[in-house]
Parts: sequence; C-alpha cells; structure tokens
Amino acid sequence: MRNILVTNALPYANGHLHLGHMLGYIQSDIWVRFQKSQNHQCHFVCGSDTHGTPIMLKAQKEGIRPEKLVAEMAQSHLNDFMDFEVEFDNYHSTHNTLNQEIVEDIYKKLQANNLIETREIAQAYDPKANMFLPDRFVKGICPKCKAPDQYGDSCEVCSATYSPLDLIAPRSVVTGECPIEKTSEHYFFKLSSLSQDIEKWMKSNKALQPEINNKLKEWFQSGLQDWDISRDAPYFGFPIPGTNEQKYFYVWLDAPMGYLASFKDFCNKAGIDFDSYWKQDSQAELYHFIGKDIVYFHALFWPAILHAVGYRTPTGVFANGFLTINGQKMSKSRGTFISARTYLNHLHADYLRYYFACKLTTKIDDIDLNLTDFIQKVNSDLVGKVVNIASRCAGFIHKRFDGMLSDNVIDQDLVDEFTQVHDKITQCFETRDFAQAMRIIMNLADKANQFVDQHKPWQLIKEKGNEQIVHDVCSLGVNLFKIIMGYLKPVVPALALKAEQFLNISQLAWAEIPALLLNHKINKFKPLLARIEQDKIEAILMETKNMQAQQEKAAIIEADNVENALDIADEIAIDDFMKVDLRIAKIIAADHVEGADKLLRLMLDLGGLQKQVFAGIKSAYNPEDLIGKHTVMVANLAPRKMRFGLSEGMVLAAGDGKGLYLLEPHEGAKPGMRVR
Ligand code: MSP
Ligand code: ZN
Repeated sequence: MRNILVTNALPYANGHLHLGHMLGYIQSDIWVRFQKSQNHQCHFVCGSDTHGTPIMLKAQKEGIRPEKLVAEMAQSHLNDFMDFEVEFDNYHSTHNTLNQEIVEDIYKKLQANNLIETREIAQAYDPKANMFLPDRFVKGICPKCKAPDQYGDSCEVCSATYSPLDLIAPRSVVTGECPIEKTSEHYFFKLSSLSQDIEKWMKSNKALQPEINNKLKEWFQSGLQDWDISRDAPYFGFPIPGTNEQKYFYVWLDAPMGYLASFKDFCNKAGIDFDSYWKQDSQAELYHFIGKDIVYFHALFWPAILHAVGYRTPTGVFANGFLTINGQKMSKSRGTFISARTYLNHLHADYLRYYFACKLTTKIDDIDLNLTDFIQKVNSDLVGKVVNIASRCAGFIHKRFDGMLSDNVIDQDLVDEFTQVHDKITQCFETRDFAQAMRIIMNLADKANQFVDQHKPWQLIKEKGNEQIVHDVCSLGVNLFKIIMGYLKPVVPALALKAEQFLNISQLAWAEIPALLLNHKINKFKPLLARIEQDKIEAILMETKNMQAQQEKAAIIEADNVENALDIADEIAIDDFMKVDLRIAKIIAADHVEGADKLLRLMLDLGGLQKQVFAGIKSAYNPEDLIGKHTVMVANLAPRKMRFGLSEGMVLAAGDGKGLYLLEPHEGAKPGMRVR
C-alpha cells in the first residue's frame, strides 16, 4: 500500500469557477479516485487561495470585509466541486492561524538560513489610493506598438514586456490617477543561491513531464532571479513578522503553504501523522496537480523553499494545458466563458468528466471542448455504447428470467478479452493517460455490442427452445456492462452508482472487475443516462451571454466612475469654496451674439441687481427657450472685457463634451439667493 498525498492548485477566492478550472480539478479527482480504488492510502486536499490585492479591492468595492468575500466564494466553489463530483478529503483556506503559523515558521527558517534579504525597489504607486499597484492594476498605451488599454506587464497585441511606468499615459485601474514611481524596501527570497539544489531535484525526479523539464532547463540557463516575497500595506495577507504590519507576504508565498495547512488540518481531524508525509526522508508520495500557467511557482519556488527548510520535495508536479472552447481561447466576447454553475444548471457533471477524460494525457497541450463533438461523443459512447449494452439485455432478464442472471458463461474468450486489458487500463490511469484508457474501454463497449448483435436475442426469443441461449447471452451482456462500468467508475462516479444499483451490488471494486455475476439477481433497469440534446448547449451559451452582458453593464458603470474620478480637482478647504459667491439668477433676456458662434448673451436678474454674461451654450439652447428660467451663476467673478461687451460672471452648466446642461434650481428658489 502506498501513502499518497495529492493537491490541486488552490482556486483564487475572488471569482467563480469556470470550465477551464474544472479541467484540472476533474483530472486530479479521476486520478485520486483511481488511487483510492487501488486501496492505497490516498489523501486529496485543496482550499481557497485568499490573499492579494484583487481580493482586497473587490471586498472594498462591495463594502465588505475580505474575510466575508472569501468565505462566500469558498462556499460557492465547494458547491461547484460537489456537483462536479470533485471530492476533496479536506478543503481549507490560506487565511487562518494554522497557515499563518506555518508561513511564519518557514519564513523564520529561511531567514535563519540566510535566504532572505532586503532591497529597495521602485514601483508604480497610486498617489490617490495611497497604495502600490501590481502590474495588472496599471493600464495605458503600449510603448512599442501604441495599442491602447494594455496592462502594465505586457502588451496583448504585440507581446512586448515592460514595466508599468513604461506605458504611455499610464493610469491606475483603481482610481484612474496617473501612477508615480515610488521606492520602498522589499524582502527577497534568494532563489538564485538554490539553483543547484533545484537542478538536483529536477534531475532525480522521474515523474516530471518533459515539458516541465525543458522549461526548468531554460530558466536555469537564463539564471534564476531572486524572488520578491513582500508587498507593502495596504494588502490583504499575513504581515511579515518584525515589520510593524507595514509589509505583507506576497500571496504566492503563502498560497502553496496552504497545501501544508490544509493537510495539517486534515491530519488533526483524522489522526494522521503529518510529519510522516513532510519530513525530508518521507516515503510518502506527494503530487501537485496544476495548470500550465503556474509551473514557475510549483516547479521552481516551491521545491526550493521546501528544500531550504528541510521538508521533503514533491514526487511529481503534473501540469495540464488550458481549456479552449470550439478551438479558441475561452472568451468573454465570444460568449464562451462558461461558468461551472452555468454548465451544471443544464447538464450533469459526468458528461463533461467523460469528455475531458477522453482528451487528457500526460501532455501539457491545450485541450479543446468542441461543443458539437462533445454532444456527439458523449451520446455515441456513454449513451449509445455503454448504457445501451445494459438496456438491451436487462429487459429479457427481467421479463423472462425473473431478474436472475444465468450461471453459465457463454463466451469465455470474450470475457478473457475484457479482463486481459485490466492491467493495461490500470497502467493508463496510473500514468494519467486517461485518453488511452477511454479508447480501450470504448473498444470493449463496441465488442460487447457486437456480441449482442451477433446473437440477436430479440430474434432468438421468438423461437421455442432458445431460452437458455437468450439467458446466457443477455447475462453475459450485463456482465460485460459491469466490467466496463468498473473501469469507468473513477471517471463517471454518478453513472457508476446508478449501475451499482441496477446490478444490485454494493461496490464496483477495481480488484473485482474481472469477477462475473453468476446466478445473481439484478434490479429493474431504469434509464441510466439521457442523451445530451442540442438545446441544452444552446441554453448554456445563452445563460453565459446573459451573465456576460450583465457583467459588462456593471463594468461600464464602474469604468465611468473611475473616469469621472479622474477629473476631480485638487482638494480645497471650505474657506476656498466660500470665496465663490454663487447666486440664483433669473434669465430675463437671451440673444444671439453677432460674430460669435458659441456664445449667447444672457441678462441675469439677481433680485434687483442685473448682470450681463456671455455663456458658451449656443450649441445647446435657443435663446427664446431660456427666457424666464432660473439658473445658478458665479456672481463675484472678476468682470472680463470681451469683444462683444463686458461679461460679469458665469452661469453653471454640466457637460461631457457631447451634451451641455444648464443648472436649474428646484422650485421656490428666488433670484439673488445664495447657493452653498
Ligand atoms: N490561486 C492560484 C493557485 C495557487 S496554488 C498554491 C491560481 N488560482 S486560479 O483560480 O487562477 O486557478 C486555479 C487552477 O485552475 C490553476 O491550476 C490554473 O492553472 C487552472 N486554470 C485556470 N484557468 C484555466 C483554463 N482556462 N484552463 C485550464 N486550467 C485553468 O492559479
Ligand atoms: Zn504592443
């Protein structure tokens, strides 16, 4: 029996899960279910990744504490995982004292080993929000290709990389303000000094994918950079001990330690010896499943830190490619950013789990969910082949043989074919070549259907004397179905559960896959799995589009707010404001001004006193429409001599470059009243 600890990347608690996320979680869940079916001691832990600027700002925007945001998101993620049948043994979080203790302990060890040093670095700073800005929180024009609206780290149009302040007209995503450069002290993990240790780990590690090996070699060749592990306040995270809460650990430092915390929490609850899994010479196996975008953190920083503080290093780091939909990157504008919940609102998890399994190999290539192929493949394989075997045999067993399976095996050669691939399929699951496992299994399903086709029980039964053969054929059909479902169980757990009920057995256990059910009573067959109808897919896409439209609306309102915030002038004191004498004025005359194409001449009555004002509102108003109306004017503005006469103040109007709108007081305001 092996002791295996499996983790999957901790999802960020700042947004909902989408089908891209589910690819990795389903992959690791299948693998864990398989390992458990081998009767190994296999533990599967995960949790929320909770820290960082995005979560802090999102909470601020929603007017709640980040702890609340994170807790709500964790619940939503857990619901999604449950309904996708992703079954963690423990789901924890990076924001708790358990993790904080672990993080501080590791940090102290790194310090003691002389692996932390401080340096001054310059960074983009938002002078209005009073905070340093992560690269992604600065946007502007690409300095290279001049594409507008690019992030501070790289250009999505020309792929140039740069630092945020290289952008032309940079602005803070938080306030719209132009960021300034500001220096502060940062804490660095001296990764460069551990280069050889990580290289040694890489070379001794047999489980690493070749793609990861190559990436690591590239990184070694270009030389490892020390890693900035601190962020300045304000930040949602753990304060770095000894820095007076001014410095925080960067989210990516404490996130992988969340694996340790989640497992420790599990050990505490389940009475498992934590150290036996994490001590340097541990015989337990440790695997991290991740997406390809976070290889750097898991294959470089993480083993380096573990090594540096005397913990064991990972047995394997398994990366999956990214999910594309209909051959293209999941995209909001194409309406293919399908959330986990939207899928679940219309379809069962097993369909997608099976489809992903058909595509998953040990490679890091991207994986495509082609929606037409998805319907076709699932309907043809799971419904048309696998479930079909049971449905075409079960009826006879019930109607003719009282639900009892025969005790005679009519085609032992065929059974042998099904059981001979047991080792091969086991090996495919073990090496994460699910695609090949699915091909072998579907080949069996074809054979089982051919077997039934050849014997044609529906014809045989019409002639007397064929009872025995019909009984034997249908019984073997049911048994072949049982074998297939045994192999498929890690992939489609809900379907397997229904099959167990139909077969009237407590468990489709891996070791017992070859064992046949002879002289055994089965339950009545109920439809196990419906075909996917095209309209379900359309409903998923429609729901995605609608949600997208809602989010866009919200984003536009938000962007407008930032845009307006951009115009707010420097702060003034109340005394400054009181210097401006604003008065209600009645427009008693309004005329065009000869030779002026923007101006109207207004005669304003302030309750006895009259003033002449030239106002640039000709584009928006006909003079005759203004006469008799009330508005607000600056009454103490120094008079200005113009070509057309003296302007003795100004009227107040709002405008955005497109429209222009004079201010008008509520009813009851009288000319001459002070406005303040
Ligand atoms: N919080 C980090 C992981 C910290 S691990 C100590 C993170 N979170 S995430 O929510 O962005 O992503 C969670 C997992 O989903 C990661 O493994 C990531 O690579 C994966 N994927 C995110 N988008 C994906 C696709 N579109 N396709 C496939 N996997 C994707 O990264
Ligand atoms: Zn560019």
